[in-house]
Amino acid sequence: MKLAHRLQAIKPSPTLALNSRAKALVAKGVDVVVLAAGEPDFDTPDYVKQAAVDALRAGFTKYTPTNGIPELREAICAKLERDNGLRYTPDQVLVTSGGKQGLYNFCQAALEEGDEVIIFAPFWVSYPDMVRLAGATPVIVPTREEDGFAPDPDAIRRALTPRTRAVIINSPGNPTGAVYSRAALERIAEVLRPHDCLIVTDDIYEKLLYTDERLGISDVAPDLVPRLVVVNGMSKAYSMTGWRMGYVAGPKPLLAGMQMVQDQSTSNASSIGQKAALAALQGPPDTIAAMVKEYRERRDFFIAGLNALDGVRCRMPEGAFYAFADVRGLLGRSYKGKPVTSAMQLSEILLDDFRVAAVPGEPFGAEGYVRMSFVTSREVLQKGLARLGELVKALS
Ligand SMILES: Cc1ncc(COP(=O)(O)O)c(C=O)c1O
Repeated sequence: MKLAHRLQAIKPSPTLALNSRAKALVAKGVDVVVLAAGEPDFDTPDYVKQAAVDALRAGFTKYTPTNGIPELREAICAKLERDNGLRYTPDQVLVTSGGKQGLYNFCQAALEEGDEVIIFAPFWVSYPDMVRLAGATPVIVPTREEDGFAPDPDAIRRALTPRTRAVIINSPGNPTGAVYSRAALERIAEVLRPHDCLIVTDDIYEKLLYTDERLGISDVAPDLVPRLVVVNGMSKAYSMTGWRMGYVAGPKPLLAGMQMVQDQSTSNASSIGQKAALAALQGPPDTIAAMVKEYRERRDFFIAGLNALDGVRCRMPEGAFYAFADVRGLLGRSYKGKPVTSAMQLSEILLDDFRVAAVPGEPFGAEGYVRMSFVTSREVLQKGLARLGELVKALS
């Protein structure tokens, strides 16, 4: 069948392919250690569920305004002021079906053919494809682990052109879990200041933090706020991935454009979900703190276990829930007489012969790395480490 031309720029995701293979094995009853998930294993907090049940019982089941119910947009403004020091009015906020839709709407509303968007690698797999779907060009700027995966200002400078329409910042980041330091953000701000481009800050992992300080670009460069587009959502902080609740805030004309995209695609995010999101934002902060405490313990245990494996090195992530392990020390070794040359190949062997699902770094723009989530019980993590150990032993 003939498909739209714009889809030709999009590659089927190898990550999803691996995930579906892992899921198919689990469905067949195979004991797979799944470390590929991008979602918390905790259930949605009860008070959030209750708000949705109440909304359902009260018949809150009709269309809402496309941009979301006013009380939720007000609560989002309050959150942005409280947590991020950002002052927005409710007409600068769009409630979306997940942070992903916020980013997608942004791309559709702001980008066109010829535009370029700077993305720092390793990146979340969806950024480049969303940019391509809008007809624009992703410009990948690699970062180095030695720099805490923060971009080198000279590399950004070289990537900027008069066609640069936006730059995406994601801290804590997926897949690295890296949190940019104040100095790193200041350097980014300094380079971007003279360029008339938008700055998208994807703050989806902002609450999943193992350091004392996490700053946004607006904290170090308040003068750039008029060019800022904030993307966030409930998925990761409140264990609400399936609810599809997110939001975007930014300059009014841009938000109006993004709303037009949403008007003609999905309309409002789920009415019941909006009530649940409202409850989440207004709920007690200790709900998140308890989850983060558990993630931190798992992180410490899991990263230490990875670093004990010969040929594997893993940086301690300061946020999110991913271990991003450097497996280059394993590449070049042989498995069953054949050389293993890529993280992708290693992940395949890991799944097929050792029953561990991990995501290779290639789709994130990071060869020689493997991403493993630690959002699963310690017993499962322990089992995963043991199986990884078996793989390492089987390599020669
Ligand atoms: C970096 C990043 N941004 C945005 C999202 C979107 O999350 P959601 O659409 O569930 O809000 C994800 C989800 O994995 C992510 O990893």
